[in-house]
Amino acid sequence: MTETLTVRIWRGKAEGRFESYEVPARANQTVLDVVTEVQRSLEPALAYRFACRVGVCGSCAMTVNGRPRWTCRTHVRRLGGEGTLTLEPLRNLPHIKDLVSDLTPFFEKWHKAGGRFAGTAGRQDPPQRVDPQSASRLAASAAIECINCAVCYSACDVVAWDQDYLGPAALNRAWTLVNDARHGAREETLDRAFAAGGCASCHSQGNCTRHCPVELSPSQSIAGLKRSTLFGPPKVGEPG
Ligand code: SF4
Ligand code: SF4
Ligand code: FES
Repeated sequence: MTETLTVRIWRGKAEGRFESYEVPARANQTVLDVVTEVQRSLEPALAYRFACRVGVCGSCAMTVNGRPRWTCRTHVRRLGGEGTLTLEPLRNLPHIKDLVSDLTPFFEKWHKAGGRFAGTAGRQDPPQRVDPQSASRLAASAAIECINCAVCYSACDVVAWDQDYLGPAALNRAWTLVNDARHGAREETLDRAFAAGGCASCHSQGNCTRHCPVELSPSQSIAGLKRSTLFGPPKVGEPG
């Protein structure tokens, strides 16, 4: 590793430019460490986002050398890049400033895909039993750990050319709900996933799955939604 790292950082909004900074190359530094060092030592006005620093919240996601990543979980030395880093905000989203993207369209699509859980039980009802080994629960569990970081959305080339496409995270969420026996709007969620801009627009090449930092497979969830258009919705509660 070189002793100095050159960091090219996008400054501005949609209109802007890359600016270069030099920071010391340190052992075990993450990309988020580098951004923080630039902000604290060289460019106090630099805007970026983070919260947990340990790969839990997903808020530090940016485009690093052309790929969307969680910067707190990305070690510089693993990137190669000959001592140079290029950092941009997440793609496929409006830019607020510098390294900060506006996630509003991402969350709007979450709702458009019917991603809000609709409970059917009241306060006085006993907890509903769900067989953890049923096929539907296994399908939901495989997709449930999404933390809405938008990395997959940023990696999706269909979103890039069709801003109406709901995208991998929203459809992944829809798939968990149509497999959830407690969700009171399963048919509505499926209808939304089948509508224009829904699962039929996915080309199944799997960029979303390749980039998801928690190793979910939105493309597999979307394949499940597509199968449901042919064979009907999954039967919840049947043995796996
Ligand atoms: S599916 Fe993965 S990459 Fe996409 S928003 Fe959820 S956690 Fe992030
Ligand atoms: S598989 Fe579908 S959702 Fe995933 S990146 Fe490709 S088009 Fe987007
Ligand atoms: S800061 Fe929370 S995942 Fe990186």
